[in-house]
Amino acid sequence: MSRKMKNKVITNLLIERIASEGKCVGHHEGKVVFVSNVAPGDLVDVRITRGKSSFMEGEAVNFHEYSKDRIEPFCSHFGVCGGCKWQHINYDLQKTYKRQQVVDQFQRIAKVPIPEVAPILGSSETKYYRNKLDFTFSNSRWLTREEINSGEEFERNALGFHIPKMFDKIVDIEHCYLQGGISNDVRNSLREFALTNQLSFYDIRNQVGLLRNLIIRTTSTGQTMVIVQFGENDPESIPLVMEFLKTKFPKITSLLYVINTKGNETFHDLELVTYAGLPYIEEEMEGLKFRVGPKSFYQTNSKQAYELYKVARDFAELKGDEVVYDLYTGTGTIANFVAKKAKQVIGVEYVEAAIEDAKLNSKINGIENTLFYAGDMKDILNEDFIANHAKPDVIITDPPRAGMHQDVVNMLLRLEAPTIVYVSCNPATQARDVAFLAEKYQVERIQPVDMFPQTYHVENVVRLTLKS
Ligand SMILES: C[S@@+](CC[C@H](N)C(=O)[O-])C[C@H]1O[C@@H](n2cnc3c(N)ncnc32)[C@H](O)[C@@H]1O
Repeated sequence: MSRKMKNKVITNLLIERIASEGKCVGHHEGKVVFVSNVAPGDLVDVRITRGKSSFMEGEAVNFHEYSKDRIEPFCSHFGVCGGCKWQHINYDLQKTYKRQQVVDQFQRIAKVPIPEVAPILGSSETKYYRNKLDFTFSNSRWLTREEINSGEEFERNALGFHIPKMFDKIVDIEHCYLQGGISNDVRNSLREFALTNQLSFYDIRNQVGLLRNLIIRTTSTGQTMVIVQFGENDPESIPLVMEFLKTKFPKITSLLYVINTKGNETFHDLELVTYAGLPYIEEEMEGLKFRVGPKSFYQTNSKQAYELYKVARDFAELKGDEVVYDLYTGTGTIANFVAKKAKQVIGVEYVEAAIEDAKLNSKINGIENTLFYAGDMKDILNEDFIANHAKPDVIITDPPRAGMHQDVVNMLLRLEAPTIVYVSCNPATQARDVAFLAEKYQVERIQPVDMFPQTYHVENVVRLTLKS
């Protein structure tokens, strides 16, 4: 962007439509302007923050007119927290926009013939739908402009979510509408207990402090896992905290802690201590049990995960005699979910602990026709692997947001499985991969699924069939 444009304010910009990543677009002097935290139909003044020769980015600094489609956000933290960016848009429109994103990405990026994109499968629950939340303790609570301007002294310890793009600022959460059960109560009680007992909240910048992070996981079967991360090994205070949680919340079925003095909050490489209850929780789907350990991935909207898996299974059109590859299998949930309808299912996944869970989940459900392998997809899925296993009739692939590595796409083209079911949480990378697969495949069905109401995220399932 020319230096002149930076910080320039464009007045009376009409926000026309939603673009990707939840941003909206308007046009100014023939250029696209991307704006965050607005809604189609808003008329705003926009301060330009960034831009290239063909587009600009900016933030709304003044609203002349609000879109008639806006609704009142229900959460007091809306706008600061960044967790539910679309609460100001009614749910029907959220669904319309999400479906439109899929259409746009396939038209703009895949540029291949596509069938009519099915209406998005909405989530039956639009609040309290998440089964996992991750809260951070901080001694640097985010203060509102009013608080700063008041000149008063405020409590600076906080337990809540990161402010977008500010790694050390935490918004203190009083009520979060994303997770039900005892989640809000556990978080608020633990904060209160820590403040009363003058336990230290983590100093993210200097990496010191006792209380670092709190993870709460719930299941549709009513179980709750709570994991407390401590930033220091304090043998007096740790049992104090854990005993408080154990006594106050008998509904916690799995109470764990971990001492993490590393530079980051991830604990996949650390040992967790089970303080009370079991070291796992169990989710259930069509009578199948899925054991979820503290380090295991499980789709975060359990009810909607079931809908998503049913779409994937329908798109696979299994008759019972197929060999299915489930790529990026995680804890083998899809693999085990479709196993009854296939001859054999082979799951591949990067995380070894997840593969251990996948095997365990087959075992506890009496499923004997699954095989699981751990490793990087592009390395595992090679000529040797293909030579040593039956060729797939159906490939189900569910990669992370970045999509599939080019080597994996090339291997799928060599494998020539009659059907590929591509599940994705990022239609842009999915459309990119589909463009490559179009060399041999045609797109037969497209079904968006809403896993995350109140956010711009959209899950999408595509059925591809080998061209004759
Ligand atoms: C979107 S999740 C899918 C999980 C699973 N299908 C489910 O529904 O629970 C993507 C998975 O891909 C795995 N993954 C990411 N990169 C990988 C790679 N290069 N090779 C193999 N697996 C990878 C992640 O660990 C994660 O479990």
